Amino acid sequence: MHIIEISVSKSENQIKPSFDYLKLYDEVVNNRNIVILKSVFDAPFCERLKARVFDWGKSSNGHSIDYPGKSFHRMGNLNPNSMTPHIFHAYNFDLPDSSLEKCLEKDLIDLFNKMKQLQQKISFRALNYDMSGFTLPRLRPQIIHYPCGGGYFDYHVHPFEPQRVGLILNLSRFGCDYDAGGTSFFTKEKRFQLSGIMILATLLYLDMIFCTPQKK
Ligand SMILES: [Fe+2]
Repeated sequence: MHIIEISVSKSENQIKPSFDYLKLYDEVVNNRNIVILKSVFDAPFCERLKARVFDWGKSSNGHSIDYPGKSFHRMGNLNPNSMTPHIFHAYNFDLPDSSLEKCLEKDLIDLFNKMKQLQQKISFRALNYDMSGFTLPRLRPQIIHYPCGGGYFDYHVHPFEPQRVGLILNLSRFGCDYDAGGTSFFTKEKRFQLSGIMILATLLYLDMIFCTPQKK
């Protein structure tokens, strides 16, 4: 497995990798390499989004079960019903959502539309599902917060279809928001403190550990 870092050009509405999409698909799916797109979203955008999502979580009650058709958040602390052990706070969005603060709603729509468009192009499978409502299948925009002091997500794998290609965006900065852990793969050869969008085949085993045990 190799890590390939590439740059992007950005326009108002889309992220354009410097590789063509067929080459990206080949590297990720056929060769099982990891591609990292650098500097896709700038630090002020990421900081602003994290702060607003966190504030929204503090200002609204968490839901212990899924809440279809609405945005909701929930703290998962080794829930016995979960297939994959984890400790994290999940923020799940139903977009558009006029009950959210206008700036937060706009940033979320901007982020997830760009990620969706990129995922469709790289996977060569344009699954045009909504990001809202009760009807399945639908896309489920989610931001996960791994709390300092032991947040983690254990090893798991997704089926190849229908997604084919997964995207992980790290909004946090290593050495600033956390100083141990990261995304890793089944070999545990290396942990990735990525600062961009990581693109991988969905059938790779991965986990995420942002434990930073010494911080509260
Ligand atoms: Fe996953």
